[in-house]
Amino acid sequence: MIKYWIEGGGKLNGSVAISGAKNAAVAILPATLLVNGTCRIENVPDISDVRLLLEILSNMGARIRRLGRNTLEIDCSHVRNVTAPIELVRRIRASYYLIGVQLGRFGHARVAMPGGCNFGVRPIDQHIKGFEAMGATVEQAGGYVCADAPEGGLLGGHVYLDIVSVGATMNILLAAVLSGGLTIIENCAKEPHIVDLANFLNAMGAKVSGAGTDIIKVRGVRQLRGGFYTIIPDQIEAGTYMTAAAAVGGNVLVENVIPKHLDCITAKLREMGARVTEYDDSIRVESSRRLRRANVKTMPYPGFPTDMQPQIAVCMALAEGTSLVTEGIYDNRFRYTGEINRMGASIQVESKTAVIDGVRQLHGCEVRACDLRAGAAMVIAALCAEGTTVIEDADYIERGYEDIVGKLTGLGAKIRRTEDRSAPAEESVG
Ligand code: EPU
Repeated sequence: MIKYWIEGGGKLNGSVAISGAKNAAVAILPATLLVNGTCRIENVPDISDVRLLLEILSNMGARIRRLGRNTLEIDCSHVRNVTAPIELVRRIRASYYLIGVQLGRFGHARVAMPGGCNFGVRPIDQHIKGFEAMGATVEQAGGYVCADAPEGGLLGGHVYLDIVSVGATMNILLAAVLSGGLTIIENCAKEPHIVDLANFLNAMGAKVSGAGTDIIKVRGVRQLRGGFYTIIPDQIEAGTYMTAAAAVGGNVLVENVIPKHLDCITAKLREMGARVTEYDDSIRVESSRRLRRANVKTMPYPGFPTDMQPQIAVCMALAEGTSLVTEGIYDNRFRYTGEINRMGASIQVESKTAVIDGVRQLHGCEVRACDLRAGAAMVIAALCAEGTTVIEDADYIERGYEDIVGKLTGLGAKIRRTEDRSAPAEESVG
């Protein structure tokens, strides 16, 4: 078990470089299984979710060479269609992308259902609806999803998603790339990582159009060849450092970002009184006074991301007045509020809304990260708090934040990491 020990009270100053996008990387790495040749991928975040996926790929026979901390060469020309080990699959939700890629490349997939869930039921019915629209037969039994393409491979298909789903959009896209026809996905998600996956696939020879709009069209091709690709910067990691600077106070330049992807976070922090300045590929956040109250509702992109909900809630927990946070994506993403309340916050959850009465000060204590973004929120709360906070189960945080301890230390934070290898780490999803 990893623990963070944080001494709060200081300001954050300096610059921090943002790594590649986790939720793009966790789709692009499985996508290399569709490619007959070597993919050279840059800006791959060095996080535990990526390491897990690489283990799964290498189990299937992928040849992986690390050319630096963030550059990988992956050759999947000779992969075997094997069922990925359940103990790896259940630790990362993105393993559901194996269904799309194995179905697309081999015509058959058997993948364990991704592990338990920290914020409510997370079905994959929309993914399955897409595979079936392409002619696949899909069954769920004994904790596994088994999918079979018709003789001769997947056909094109037309699917209208009932729910705007990032995972379903990407998975159907992955399955469709090598299919024998035209696939149309309507009411699809528009997140930057969806555009990134489509750009990666196109760079390898796919024919995907419309990514970033409500309708994606995929014209199946016979095969993908190798190529070179650079993953976009992580919108949520950038937003996390922006909210940290706003809540803790100080002057932080967040570098290597696409400011457009951060518009809704920039707007919310400005509304709350932080000074946010955009440059071509960086954003400066300055904050010297107590923030003002605000309301936020999480929505699919370009709305306010659910993955920033806990972090902005910490800003509100210390702001002047009463703020409302409404969760529009998940049934239950407020579990972390109990931990922040133990630090002195005043947050009441009523169904899908958290009512946050801003307090002047939080106090350090022992808290437990209950998922990735909840953990990030606890780090921000700890940096604001008086005294020492110990965050247990920080393993969750390292699933999605590359070198968060080093990056925060570079901004002047007092944060220390300990690892107890005898204590069981969290079982994770994402
Ligand atoms: N949903 C269904 N049926 C489906 C698919 C989704 O009902 O077939 C529901 C979900 O239960 C949820 C909503 O639709 O209520 C949206 O879920 P979505 O499919 O968009 O989420 P996801 O693909 O499972 C990804 C990210 C999450 C992020 C969400 C929303 C990955 C691996 N995970 O999950 O990231 O919260 O999109 O943007 O890309 C994180 O990074 O901390 C994280 C949890």
